[in-house]
Amino acid sequence: MRTQVAIIGAGPAGLLLAHLLRRAGVEAVVIERRDREYVEGRVRAGVLEQVTVDLMNTLGLGERMRAEGLVHTGTNIASDGDLFRIDMSELTGGSTVMVYGQQEVMKDLFDAAEPRGVRIIFDAEDVALHDIDGSKPYVTWRKDGAEHRLDCDFIAGCDGYHGVSRATIPADVLKTFERVYPFGWLGVLADVPPCDHELIYSNHERGFALASMRSPTRSRYYIQCGLDERIEDWSDERFWDELCLRLGPEAGARVTRGASFEKSIAPLRSFVSEPMRHGRLFLAGDAAHIVPPTGAKGLNLAASDVIMLGEALTEHYLEGSNAGLDGYSARALARVWKAERFSWWFTSLTHRFPDRDGFDRKMQVAELAYMRGSRAAQVTLAENYVGLPLV
Ligand code: FAD
Ligand code: DHB
Repeated sequence: MRTQVAIIGAGPAGLLLAHLLRRAGVEAVVIERRDREYVEGRVRAGVLEQVTVDLMNTLGLGERMRAEGLVHTGTNIASDGDLFRIDMSELTGGSTVMVYGQQEVMKDLFDAAEPRGVRIIFDAEDVALHDIDGSKPYVTWRKDGAEHRLDCDFIAGCDGYHGVSRATIPADVLKTFERVYPFGWLGVLADVPPCDHELIYSNHERGFALASMRSPTRSRYYIQCGLDERIEDWSDERFWDELCLRLGPEAGARVTRGASFEKSIAPLRSFVSEPMRHGRLFLAGDAAHIVPPTGAKGLNLAASDVIMLGEALTEHYLEGSNAGLDGYSARALARVWKAERFSWWFTSLTHRFPDRDGFDRKMQVAELAYMRGSRAAQVTLAENYVGLPLV
């Protein structure tokens, strides 16, 4: 089998890239280790930047998002229960974000794949990348007991943090930067109305909490937890009690309790590997970088990476120019590092660090108090939150 671009992984990065290339007339095949149900079933991101919204619209896949997604013009911060609003739209000259779950994005991308001729091979075992620094790379995998091979011009490694693509790059080529945080997020989904029409990011003495949503009848809540905590120890009742305490009396009183139907713990990590290209392999999304979820940048970075990679590959095939491919890593990393900084900063400002002392806590509280009264501080938060421009 032969194609122009082999895409490893059918997550947001892989499928957005596949749709972009299909639209431009560049051939691609997506090779995914799991099945559609698994990829679509993962409860993950909830907030889309304008860049990601625009991409879905450009692909002609924005109809359901425009109908069902929730446009947010602001977000809320709580400091020990004291709430204030950041009017993102007013502070940024009209930018907004869209609350539309990653599961919905994936459903739209998968539903459109077959009708548009986007090829996806599911359940591919033992995927391996070969000759990435030669001129004839290829990918092999096993499926239904048979060995398969796909020859290609380029490989897009969109297979997430635990994927095989980054691991194929020689260790002496890659430079990695990492921060592991001493806590995780315990997340809950429940079919109850959200406690607010916008999100609330809460810094509380007992730890961080986030009130988010998927729709006017479905809430998504997170609380900071220890890495050694077990899901079984968090009954719904214990979760709601802790959440309400951390959101403070005003928002806590508006929380509607109900049975959760999803509960999971995610660790927090900042990670970047450079460069995002080696030979004919290009990394995009979580395969190259991870942000802690505070500020909702992960899926959006995957989208901005593949916009740049899609442009570069299209330029190569349609205009015969390699300038985009040669500049891809530096261009993508410039945006990635800014989002890394923002996600790290917002995490540091809002979480309780077990190894830090009273002085650090006072600094957090003072910074939040400063932000409450400073337009300049609010603009800084708002312009990062809605997403920095693609340059
Ligand atoms: P992935 O989604 O990890 O997709 C990679 C794909 O590759 C998977 O389908 C996987 O099965 C496949 N794969 C892996 N290994 C192989 C292999 N060897 N061969 C073939 N296929 C392989 N981001 C936001 O922007 N906003 C948010 O609000 C937000 N909230 C989050 C909340 C939580 C709790 C978590 C965990 C994440 C959140 N994120 C958020 C991050 C976001 O979900 C990720 O950044 C995003 O999924 C990255 O997409 P990706 O396609 O790069 O990687
Ligand atoms: C959600 C996740 C985030 O990390 C965030 O900052 C905002 C919302 C969510 O899952 O809804």
